[in-house]
Amino acid sequence: MNQQANYICSVKVTIIAAIGANNELGKDNKLLWHLPNDLKRFKQITTGHCIIMGRKTFDSLGKALPNRTTIVITRNKAIAVENVLCVESLKQAFVAARKLKEEHCFIIGGAQIYRQSIHDADELDITHVHESFEADVFFPAIDQNKFTEMNRENFQKDEKHIYNYSISTYKNNDKKVAAIFLDRDGVLNKEIGGYITNTDALEINEAIAPFLKKKQSEGYKLIVITNQGAIDKGELTHETLKEINNKLKDAFAKLGVTFNEIYYCPHHNEISMCLCRKPKSLLLEKAIARFNININKSIMIGDHERDRYCAEGAGVFGVIIPSNEVGNLY
Ligand SMILES: NC(=O)c1ccc[n+]([C@@H]2O[C@H](COP(=O)([O-])OP(=O)(O)OC[C@H]3O[C@@H](n4cnc5c(N)ncnc54)[C@H](OP(=O)(O)O)[C@@H]3O)[C@@H](O)[C@H]2O)c1
Repeated sequence: MNQQANYICSVKVTIIAAIGANNELGKDNKLLWHLPNDLKRFKQITTGHCIIMGRKTFDSLGKALPNRTTIVITRNKAIAVENVLCVESLKQAFVAARKLKEEHCFIIGGAQIYRQSIHDADELDITHVHESFEADVFFPAIDQNKFTEMNRENFQKDEKHIYNYSISTYKNNDKKVAAIFLDRDGVLNKEIGGYITNTDALEINEAIAPFLKKKQSEGYKLIVITNQGAIDKGELTHETLKEINNKLKDAFAKLGVTFNEIYYCPHHNEISMCLCRKPKSLLLEKAIARFNININKSIMIGDHERDRYCAEGAGVFGVIIPSNEVGNLY
């Protein structure tokens, strides 16, 4: 089994929460109700998967839940807890989950993390408790235009459950697309150990074409992100780079592959400062905004650590391959 193939995966994101009639979540870092059957269900559906939470929710639990990969989001770099992976942002949490080959992540709270993740969740799994409560944290409003209720199950109160409640699943209608971000030199064309400053020096890596063609047919956008510091150094012009990129596009078009965009950074850090030269992530961020890309279903393929850093900075999973060894991606 080739190693790279393991990484061509995406992660499904489900938000799971129990909320009161006015979206109440908790008070004084505690839950507001005790619904044992709902807790059993939570355990059942999250076991074997990855759970992501904010530090305060983790504090309220007091320990890692068994049989689940536990990721806690905190700005405190000093936190170290056994069996818990601490990260500094939601983006880092998703990248970490994908590195661990998790295929389904559950966001389990609290309010801050729900607010930050609701737009990117594939689905919401919500227990609606049919009662109002005094609370200090609330679930964000569920936008009915964005989320469609797919299923609702009702439960009546009994001796162990003092409130009626119902469980609804909502599907995100957002039509975000997946993308494969590609470094250029060493991935799409031969790395020659220096700048490619004329069209004759461009030799494409044809072996990557079947993989790209397949992914394109599955709906992935193909977006090239390349550093072209030779422009800043005066060794290449924008016009010549356009000709080189056109040759690249034409060659791949003949193999059935169309790139949606080629973004390049013309700067070199020895000459000018910028936010677009990899390992910085600006070009990726631009593409994500322009093409409405779902970062959790996208990858970046490059042949340098700077490609990985660039990807991870934007919350995209980065795959590093040896230069020009593109034949075993699928
Ligand atoms: N009803 C439910 O289903 C449910 C589920 C879960 C939780 N809850 C309730 O929700 C409450 C806790 O929610 P909460 O909103 O107060 O806290 P939270 O979301 O659990 O955690 C907030 C903490 O997460 C970290 N954090 C948040 N955004 C971050 C970012 N962008 N980058 C880095 N770190 C970030 C910070 O940790 P640091 O301060 O360490 O930097 C922040 O203080 C409790 O009452 C709990 O019982 C209810």
